[in-house]
Formats: sequence, structure tokens, C-alpha cells
Amino acid sequence: MQISFALEKVNLQGVRLFAPASIANISCGFDVLGLCLENIGDIMEIRRSEVPGIQITSIKGQDLPLEAKKNVAGVAALALLEAHNSKLGFEIFIEKNIKPGSGIGSSAASAAGAVAGINYLLGTPYTNEALVPFAMEGERLACGSAHADNVAPALMGGFTLVRNTNPLDVCALPTPLELAATVIHPKIEVKTSDARAVLKQRVSLEKAIQQWANVGALVSSLYEEDYDLLSRSLVDEIVEPSRAILIPHFAQLKSACKAAGALGSGISGSGPSVFALSKGMTAANEVAEAMKEVYTKTEIPFEIHVSPVKQTGVSFLEDLA
Ligand code: HSE
Repeated sequence: MQISFALEKVNLQGVRLFAPASIANISCGFDVLGLCLENIGDIMEIRRSEVPGIQITSIKGQDLPLEAKKNVAGVAALALLEAHNSKLGFEIFIEKNIKPGSGIGSSAASAAGAVAGINYLLGTPYTNEALVPFAMEGERLACGSAHADNVAPALMGGFTLVRNTNPLDVCALPTPLELAATVIHPKIEVKTSDARAVLKQRVSLEKAIQQWANVGALVSSLYEEDYDLLSRSLVDEIVEPSRAILIPHFAQLKSACKAAGALGSGISGSGPSVFALSKGMTAANEVAEAMKEVYTKTEIPFEIHVSPVKQTGVSFLEDLA
């Protein structure tokens, strides 16, 4: 939905923004549930340019394509300009703090940041929800599947549930205030396309029943701030059993999270990151210690993030003159 054409920030040359990481699936909600992270994300600058279209001027921190049509931020931004019938030009600078292929929505953050920044400079003609289909084009480029479970929380914040992608129908869900996430990123590469290729294409009715019961209960737990119900719902009967083999020491991580008091844990997006949810940052930090203990015994390098759920999506940090 377009809101207005009247407020374009013509005097503003650019904007600096924070494009957040996100956790997709959240155990039972493959391709539909996601949440936005507060403490992990990319920094981006979007500037007006005399040259029509999109130019990716530089990417700090990762070796990624600069050609707009081969870059997730570029593709998402071009989709927005085309839908807006705009002949304007924008330059995009990205400081990549989220490693591609980590499982915490790296491509989604870049795509969401690009469309949110351009929308801001255009005077916010689109709602955050209306920007989701443009950002999904970045996901299509990244892994061949235009899923929205990372881009929706990265743009809208909090928890989101993607009821349908075409036409898009996204529900914003409430976040229990004390909820905190711990994410361990084992530094091995798991491509989303590979992690999707290992999935079974058929599911038994028994498992499907259990899975949709868990999704419904998880949604209810968010509305009711019922941490016990949330804990019981963080179970994935369908995807996790197929993908677990892609993540070294996955079973030990899950046991360690449980022993440390996490509400639940699972694969973050398509992996290799593993997430846990806890009640409170203190508990989330204890879970981080437990994850660390498992992985320091291995040869695999890793990093760990602890973060509250971010209530809003992409944040604008500074107007650039
Ligand atoms: N829902 C997607 C998947 C997320 O699990 O394949 C990818 O980041």
C-alpha cells in the first residue's frame, strides 16, 4: 500500500541506517515465523545520485558483488524503483557486520535496509509491510526462494508471521518484554539452497498436526506472555530432523541450552547458526556460556551474540546532508 507522494525529502541527500539481523523459522514456523534482533546488524548509507538507478558504491567487511543486479540490496532497491515508476538514482554503501550464510538473515538485512532507506528518502510512500515484497526479491536472488520470514521481521520488527507470500499477508505479533535470544554462529558455510535441498517434500499427517499445533500455541504464548507455553511450542517436527546433520554438535548445543535454562533452541533460519530463547538477558547470557563451553571443545571457530528482540525493524540513525 502506498501512503503518499507528497512528503519526498528532496533536500535530504542521504540517510544512514541500521539493518537488523533476524531469526527465521523459530523452530516450528518454517518459512513463516521470524523475529528481529536488536544487537546485530549492518550499517548502510543510501544517498541520492544524479545517475538514475542503483549503484552499490562499496561493501565493507565482505567480498560481495557490486553490480546492482547481482547484489541483494541492489535487486531489492531496483524492484522498489520499478514499482514506484521512479527514474531517480541512489548510491548504496554497506558495512556488512552479518556474515553471508550465517543463518541470521544477512541477505535480508541488506535488502531490507536498501528498500527502507530509499523509501525514507522518497518521503515514506510505502508502509514497512508494503516494502516486504521488494526485499523478497533480494532473497530470491540470494537462494532462489523468495521467502519472507527474514525480511518481514527486518522491516517490521518484533515477531512476524507470514500467512501468505502471494499476495503478501504478514501478521505483526507481540513480543513478550523479557524475551532474549542467544545465537551461536559456527563459522562453517551452509548455503540456504543446500539446506533447502535436504528437506523432505512429503510430511506425515501426524507430524503436520503436531507442527501446526506448535505454531498456533507459539502465537498464543506471545499474546499471553506465557513463557512456559512458548517453551513447549519451540519444537520442530519437520525441518530440524533433516537439517541437524548440517550443524556440527547440534544435539550437544541443544542439551547445553536446555541445561542452562533456555526456553528452547533450534536452527536459526537455514543454519549453521543455532538460536536459543530465554526469559531475560541474564538467562540468555548464561545460555551463551553454555554454548561457548560446547564449541570451545571443538576446532570450529565461532561467535556468539546475545540480544533482546528489536521491536521496530530498520532504524534510521542519521540524515545525511
Ligand atoms: N525459512 C528459510 C529457510 C530461511 O529455513 O530455508 C532462510 O534464511
